[in-house]
Order: sequence, then C-alpha cells, then structure tokens
Amino acid sequence: MLGRLNHVALVVPDLAAASALYRDTLGARVSAPQALPEHGVTVVFVELPNTKVELLEPLGENSTIRGFLEKNPSGGMHHICYEVEDIVAAREQLKAAGARVLGDDEPKIGAHGKPVLFLHPKDFMGTLVELEQV
Ligand code: CO
Repeated sequence: MLGRLNHVALVVPDLAAASALYRDTLGARVSAPQALPEHGVTVVFVELPNTKVELLEPLGENSTIRGFLEKNPSGGMHHICYEVEDIVAAREQLKAAGARVLGDDEPKIGAHGKPVLFLHPKDFMGTLVELEQV
C-alpha cells in the first residue's frame, strides 16, 4: 500500500527563523512561505534530494496546530506523509484493519493539491500519519 515518503512535517514557532536555519545553516533549498487558510497553517517546503520537509506555523486563531505548539513550545515533529496510489482503497483497507481515520473519512485536498487523509496517531505508535494520493 505504501509508496514513497512524501514529507515529514515539523511544527515551528517561528517560520522565518526555521526557514533561515534550513536555508542558511543547513544549506537546503527552501520555498517561499505559502498561506493555507483552509488548513490553518503557513507552510514552507524544504526540498531535499529524496523527499521534503514541511515547516508549519499556525495561521489563524483556530489553527489545529496551535495546541501542538502549546504542548511543544520549541516545535517538533507533527506528522509523516506516505504516498499511496489509491487513497480510497487505502482507507477501506485500513478501516477494515481497525485503524481510525481523522475527520469525516473523506479525503481533503492537501498542501500539494492532491487528496490526503490523516490516520489516528494512537493506531500508528504515536505518530500522526498522512496519506497522499499521487
Ligand atoms: Co503533510
């Protein structure tokens, strides 16, 4: 079911500082910040040769990552995203195996314009898992 690692997402308290760290200190290619109000985040993509890191900063009062930052004030790893070929088939297979899908079960359009779903961290050893159809 799983394909490539699409990205690892990190929540950061200061997106400009995190971008500068990845660009200037770590020497990575870093995108301009992109506001995604429907997801409650501003995101910067760090392009690595084999995958991406996404730096996420809360956007708006109801951002779902605000609580994460309150619990982890210096930031931290938020989720990991795996590619799948057929997100609905993957969802059905996982639900049949007892995994819980967050939200209303329906894939949403994610930061890359592709359908995504999130899986409950308690069903995946404490890690929030995103699936992206590619
Ligand atoms: Co993601």
